[in-house]
Amino acid sequence: MEEVRQVKQRILSGIQPTGVFTLGNYMGAITNWEQMQEDYDCAYFIADLHSLTVRQEPAQLRKHTMEAFALLLACGIDPERSLVFVQSHVHTHAEMSWILNCSALMGELGRMTQFKDKSAKHADNINAGLFTYPVLMAGDILLYQADYVPVGADQKQHLEFTRDLAERFNHFYGNVFKVPDGYFPKAGARVMSLQDPTSKMSKSDPNPNAYISILDDRNVIINKFKRAVTDSETEIVYREGKDGINNLITIYSVMTGKSFAEIEKEFEGKGYGVFKLAVGEAVADKLQPIRDEFNRLIADKKYIEETMAVGAERAYKISRRTLDKAKKKVGLLMP
Ligand code: TYM
Repeated sequence: MEEVRQVKQRILSGIQPTGVFTLGNYMGAITNWEQMQEDYDCAYFIADLHSLTVRQEPAQLRKHTMEAFALLLACGIDPERSLVFVQSHVHTHAEMSWILNCSALMGELGRMTQFKDKSAKHADNINAGLFTYPVLMAGDILLYQADYVPVGADQKQHLEFTRDLAERFNHFYGNVFKVPDGYFPKAGARVMSLQDPTSKMSKSDPNPNAYISILDDRNVIINKFKRAVTDSETEIVYREGKDGINNLITIYSVMTGKSFAEIEKEFEGKGYGVFKLAVGEAVADKLQPIRDEFNRLIADKKYIEETMAVGAERAYKISRRTLDKAKKKVGLLMP
């Protein structure tokens, strides 16, 4: 009998190089990315063009981009199995973004909560890029005809916008884009700050005790968990109103693979101090091999640059097909 080759579904996702990744990035996105390599055709990239929406120190941005790329590899993203590249190395992204900008509506972009938050935070630099950021992101996804986009909960609105934009474009110009679905982790889609468990853990937080960077050393990690803000009760249970403890239980569950019920049982009658130490140790243990691999990779600049170049060339070949199709459909005269 003739063998039918099963074509794998495509995954695409990106991360900004605005500093070392946090435990939130790791739990909300990168662990899923790593696991999905087995069953899907995956593409992951460093979203450096996105980072320009906030003023960056140029030398720092270059350094962070190299580091972010090395970190992705250190987290288990395998360039032999997955496509890994830097966004600005593939010019189709910026081109696609312009074409899509002409189908995106001011009203829908103005409703994006991330735009509202970032405009409030950077009131002296509310640039047009900050406003059209979701269009660039939609282009990233649609260029690769992605089936699923694994992201944390904070990107949900951008994903819905991408779907609306793809449907609108397809409606006016014919079927060009696959309409993608978001893919969110069961636990860890929204890891909270250790200092204010009602707000998201973020690498741009001015207080470094609020987040775990995945390159923090063991003692730093343990100390940050010891200082984590919780509540004035004593019970380790997952319950509404216990934001700090809920966050720690979620982190411990993702790090150890234990269920919430198992964790509650393990720490029954034990105090917050014992629990916080256990969470800190579990996180430090999990991140140690990533730190070691990062240190090895970052010393090998040549390997990183070669891997980036191979990724950029492959990404260009794939994305150019969609870009050319979109250009023809909107009526641009092809050379
Ligand atoms: P970025 O760089 O802010 O974050 C990268 C990924 O980490 C997730 N994340 C979190 N998940 C759980 N808890 C948290 N506290 C937490 N903080 C961050 C984010 O949801 C994201 O999945 N716009 C994107 C980058 C991007 C992109 C794309 C993503 C550009 N183009 C195309 C997917 C597809 C961003 O700024 O992510």
